[in-house]
Amino acid sequence: MRLLILAAFLTLPVAANAQPADSSTYAIIPRPVVLTPQRGAFTLTARTAVHADPAFMSVARRFARDVANPTGFDLAVTRRTATGSAAPGGIVLVRMPALAPEAYTLDVSPRGVVVAASAPAGAFYGLETLKQLLPAAIYREAPLGNTVWRAAAVHVEDAPRFAWRGAHLDVARHFEPKEFVKKYIDLLARHKMNRFHWHLTEDQGWRIEILKYPRLTTVGSCREQTLVGPYITNPKPGNFDGKRHCGFYTQDDVREVVAYAADRMITVIPEIEMPGHAQAAIHAYPQLSSRPDSSPGVLQVWGVSDFILNPTDSTVAFMQDVLTEVLALFPGPYIHIGGDEAGKAQWKANPQIQARIKALGLKDEHEMQSWFIRQMDTFLTARGRRLIGWDEILEGGLAENATVMSWRGMDGGIAAAKANHDVVMAPGSHTYFDHYQSRDKTKEPLAIGGFTPLDTVYAFEPVPPQLTAAEAKHVLGAQAQLWTEYMPNAKHVEYMAYPRMVALSEVLWSAKGRRDYADFSTRLPAHLARLDALDVNYRKQ
Ligand code: ACM
Repeated sequence: MRLLILAAFLTLPVAANAQPADSSTYAIIPRPVVLTPQRGAFTLTARTAVHADPAFMSVARRFARDVANPTGFDLAVTRRTATGSAAPGGIVLVRMPALAPEAYTLDVSPRGVVVAASAPAGAFYGLETLKQLLPAAIYREAPLGNTVWRAAAVHVEDAPRFAWRGAHLDVARHFEPKEFVKKYIDLLARHKMNRFHWHLTEDQGWRIEILKYPRLTTVGSCREQTLVGPYITNPKPGNFDGKRHCGFYTQDDVREVVAYAADRMITVIPEIEMPGHAQAAIHAYPQLSSRPDSSPGVLQVWGVSDFILNPTDSTVAFMQDVLTEVLALFPGPYIHIGGDEAGKAQWKANPQIQARIKALGLKDEHEMQSWFIRQMDTFLTARGRRLIGWDEILEGGLAENATVMSWRGMDGGIAAAKANHDVVMAPGSHTYFDHYQSRDKTKEPLAIGGFTPLDTVYAFEPVPPQLTAAEAKHVLGAQAQLWTEYMPNAKHVEYMAYPRMVALSEVLWSAKGRRDYADFSTRLPAHLARLDALDVNYRKQ
């Protein structure tokens, strides 16, 4: 009885308010383009049905599955064929062809919920917004038994600012189990992000099964030990942990992850590094080496390896064989071929490679690398895919159809956009989530360096002022980088990724004029309660 009186009292101030504030009651992240508070609330019950346009049946079923665990409700999902036949009291997913594919409108009223979209992605995002209007317990995996599933009434019109709303994850420096990769993807989807860049190969380990070249994983997926502590140039045996570090994904694991991501409107971009960052592959297949007299091992320290693929025709064929299997696993348009930090010392020192540079009529090692990348560009383009690489692929001439991922600041992206190439912005200054989150590094776990706190991420503007409006169209969006040299496990990855990913999601989704750090800060506590329910080890601010 006392509780009921208290509850009635607590509702009074809201009822007395003409318009509830849009920040704490409606703690939607990323912030919608239009959000108009309405009076009253919708209550989800065991009798709520989901009525979906035939195009949105799988989205409706996913929503019903998602909310079944926390609510204990087995929501009926029905196909809604005739327009205007909305059953009152339900959640209705209607098709509105005039909307952009990822756009939606959401109307919550005491009578029911209507999500309108033109494509499944929009319907999915509308329902993610609906979840954020419900108590944070909607993100738990079992009912708590004390939750009323009330969503404040609202009118939302929403669409993303950028098409590429991404996050990368390096699973090569430290392997992450498939279960965590799926959790990482799931969290991205809850922030309306839609690209997962899976960094699968490195000097320190090769993590994807390739049937034609089994040694890539039987040999290349294990390093004997790992450097402990900060990077040092001449480590002694006592500087290592003495433990083997192994792990790779089978092709069935990859298929599962790709399908899991697609179910959440996320496209997976695989990265197969070449010609640098390939020491694990070179160790597994020494014929790929630019220094055949030396067996490199799988690298046990961080930094940039001297080992680099030998740019012979047979290496090109080998890597194209690898890509052939990769293409069969990843249906998305983009294939990332790395291209960064390819030290040229071994090419300079190898007379056969020098002769090859001359024979191909190339000027120097940069042009040699450019030639190598072009072989991949031609190969991928012929198969209807698009090559994407780190901004070093600009050096020595950019391959014809390449998209550039600009990490050494924005300059590579600016140059590429001015040359009519598409660009994804990934500058260290704002999107490297391996950087420290606090100026006081003594209170933080060891990181690679830098200082990129939450407000810096939030202040990121992916479209540089140097671009004209036409050039700016080449900026597809941006993404976070999670390099895992200093992230030995999943909980540590979460600590570095969150809440910075929350800020980035708003940079990438929300209209430029709707971005406001003070407003974001008022919505953040309610969002962190969601991350608590999801068991995300975010850094407390
Ligand atoms: C990079 O951080 N080497 C792309």
